[in-house]
Amino acid sequence: MDIYRIRGGKKLEGDVRISGAKNAALPIIVASLLADGETVLKNVPDLQDIRTMIKVVNCLGAQTDFDTAKNVLRIQVSGLDNREVPYELVKTMRASYYVMGPLLARAGEADVSLPGGCAIGERPVDIHLAGFEALGATITLEHGYIKARTPGLEGAVFTMKKVSVGATANLLMAAVLTKGKTVLENCAMEPDIVDLGEFLVKMGAKISGLGTERIEVEGVKKLKPVNYEIMPDRIEAGTYLIAGAITRGRVRIVGVAPRHVEALCRTLAEMGFAIESGDSWVSVAPSKKLKGTIIKTSPYPGFPTDLQAPVMALATTVDGISVVIETIFENRFTHVPELRRMGADITIEGNSAIIRGVKKLSAAPVMMSDLRAGAALVCAALAARGETEIRRIYHADRGYEGMDRKLGALGAGIKRIAGGKP
Ligand code: EPZ
Repeated sequence: MDIYRIRGGKKLEGDVRISGAKNAALPIIVASLLADGETVLKNVPDLQDIRTMIKVVNCLGAQTDFDTAKNVLRIQVSGLDNREVPYELVKTMRASYYVMGPLLARAGEADVSLPGGCAIGERPVDIHLAGFEALGATITLEHGYIKARTPGLEGAVFTMKKVSVGATANLLMAAVLTKGKTVLENCAMEPDIVDLGEFLVKMGAKISGLGTERIEVEGVKKLKPVNYEIMPDRIEAGTYLIAGAITRGRVRIVGVAPRHVEALCRTLAEMGFAIESGDSWVSVAPSKKLKGTIIKTSPYPGFPTDLQAPVMALATTVDGISVVIETIFENRFTHVPELRRMGADITIEGNSAIIRGVKKLSAAPVMMSDLRAGAALVCAALAARGETEIRRIYHADRGYEGMDRKLGALGAGIKRIAGGKP
């Protein structure tokens, strides 16, 4: 297994181009199953999770060609051969679950292995299932598989009991081919959902209310395949702003939608960093007087849970006390013991972490436990005194395209060592 060796203390300087958004690309790849013919997706990041999702659509009969040098993915669909997604794929990536919506809408049946637990919490799928039932599907659980069946979905009004990105995406993908009108209430407003919705509209879907809490869909009989460019990844963008901030360097993220990173920029500005932005870029620079802050994660447009771990790493290096409250997932503090190994002063009280800034973090061997916890360790290592060795970097490969290459170009002392310790 590869490891990262990071020599900390170098100020990052320069521009970094942001890749396509993983969490928009994943449902959009699946949504291409809704139409026969060739869908061409541009700006698809070359990530482990994307490769897994390609396997998922392959297993349902789609032919694919991923040009990783150009980030172009071609998906050829001609009917759906198979209705089942096996445990091997769902256990590697929960988002495999997204096929349920398109399979039910097109074929009236879907067998998807029930996802197990996950490093960041229990992550149930009850809202997805309640939504499909509201649209007329019958759901049973057999041998670890959710079996959904319907003689034909019918439009309905469904209120999600909690804001869920995954359930909103899954139900939207089903509703576009559902007979009649579907109204989804308490929807996720994440840009990734808007990107999926715009892709579906380009395919011929009739959707209104994207980016609001209430989405209305008038079902159509058929959709057509299209060419589409995936939006930039706001979490990758935020991570590089934090990486710049933690080294007290000057980093400019380019090819982004600045409004997607507003919550993070507000937090960075509150801490005292200088933030500037233009049409498609945002920059961060240090200031003499930095201070701790309070961060509470919440659904978009609030502070994203996916940046909670990296921003906590930053808070450990800033004078004074910061408080981070995690409201989305129950177990998203697995980076804390690792950051403590690097000298961070963090106390956990329920879903809150209290961070006292330290003078300097110090290098230590650490391990990634999930994708964003991994990003936090990379940020901490960039600022730490000495050389940090980070194991289990396959977690970062799931969501950060060319992380070592991009950080290296900004001047970081980062090396990826092949076949390091497990
Ligand atoms: C998406 O996960 C993202 N994944 C996550 O990104 C992200 O952290 C999360 O949204 C929140 O923004 C993808 O887009 C592929 P949710 P998702 O359904 O859809 C509860 C990353 O690092 N819930 O919005 O699974 C759930 O337990 C990742 O890129 C139910 O109770 O998240 C959580 O507490 C990891 N029942 C809350 O809702 C359900 O049926 C929000 O989860 C569904 C969710």
